[in-house]
Amino acid sequence: MKILHVVGARPNFMKVAPVWRAIDKMTDFDQLLIHTGQHYDKNMSDVFFNELELREPNKYLGVGSGSHAEQTAAIMVAIEQVLIKNKPDLVMVYGDVNSTVGTSIVCSKLLIPVGHVEAGLRSFDRTMPEEINRLITDQISDILFTPSKDANINLLREGISLEKIHLVGNVMIDTLVRLLPKSDISFMKEISYPYTLVTLHRPSNVDHDIMLREIFKTLIEISKSIQVIFPVHPRTKQKIDEFSLEIPDSGNFRLMEPIGYLDFLALQSRAKVVITDSGGIQEETTFLGVPCLTVRENTERPVTVSIGTNSLVGKDMELLKEKMYNILDGKFKHGKVPQLWDGKASMRIVKVLKSI
Ligand code: UD1
Repeated sequence: MKILHVVGARPNFMKVAPVWRAIDKMTDFDQLLIHTGQHYDKNMSDVFFNELELREPNKYLGVGSGSHAEQTAAIMVAIEQVLIKNKPDLVMVYGDVNSTVGTSIVCSKLLIPVGHVEAGLRSFDRTMPEEINRLITDQISDILFTPSKDANINLLREGISLEKIHLVGNVMIDTLVRLLPKSDISFMKEISYPYTLVTLHRPSNVDHDIMLREIFKTLIEISKSIQVIFPVHPRTKQKIDEFSLEIPDSGNFRLMEPIGYLDFLALQSRAKVVITDSGGIQEETTFLGVPCLTVRENTERPVTVSIGTNSLVGKDMELLKEKMYNILDGKFKHGKVPQLWDGKASMRIVKVLKSI
């Protein structure tokens, strides 16, 4: 069986890596890796390929940035040629980014089966571009690999037949389990414990002048009680510049360029608390048992709240501070690791593929 994997954005890379490794051990599969180039900066892409020990992509499509329509259309036009040329038996797509939806639409028109890894997650918030990507990808995929039971329930509710759905667990945790022992904090100079790790990049938080100012005001206040470390996503950096925000970069409030997977894991696993709007980080903190405050009104990963260490604070900065100070006082939920988040999800994916 010839399998073609398509990835494009930072969170895709840690998901494809374990699946690639698991399939690679099988003699009856050929694999190709295609990178759309949705993320193209060295520290948003190359560093992940190196650290995850992912092979060089067989093809790099170089689509780059643009509006959603421009970016998705560029992905579709470029991937169509690759698919026609390579004629895969199955295309594997990951997560909920524009590369995921663009590829799955093209496959469905070319009648090429699609396997969607991380299927069935729903925030029920259609203002999020990723929610649209998730809904469409799942409707037109042929094999849906889900990370948790809630995802199966969502898919069944949307009329997807049971035979297509496979609860395999969380592939992102496969990567974390493999690489946690290799992550090392020594790259971080002048770190003071305890510290808070922050990542924010969602359009709903960073694209609005007032909201972004409010967030920084709150973080600066928090930094009076605990060191704040904030690797800044390119989208957020652009907005800081566009809104001319003046942010102190002092000992207790440290902004930095986006960092690689291993360094981020080192920071995350030792953090007192993580403040984020990322999806994957809600999951990783749950696995690591680190308290996570999510600056979003909803989450497509509800098990991180019901079982794990995650709490949603929405846009309420007073609530963020309150929860933050509670954590500093030792008052927080400890959480458990959800079922099948055990480092073996990609092996279960291979088992499904072999059975087809
Ligand atoms: C994308 C995903 C989001 C994911 C995030 C992780 C979609 C719809 N969104 O959002 O789900 O959580 O990736 O990072 O697919 N830029 C650079 N260098 C890069 C990449 C982007 O400078 O390597 C800049 C571009 O100017 C671009 C902006 O960052 O306009 C945003 O990038 P884009 O890929 O459009 O969306 P993300 O916000 O990264």
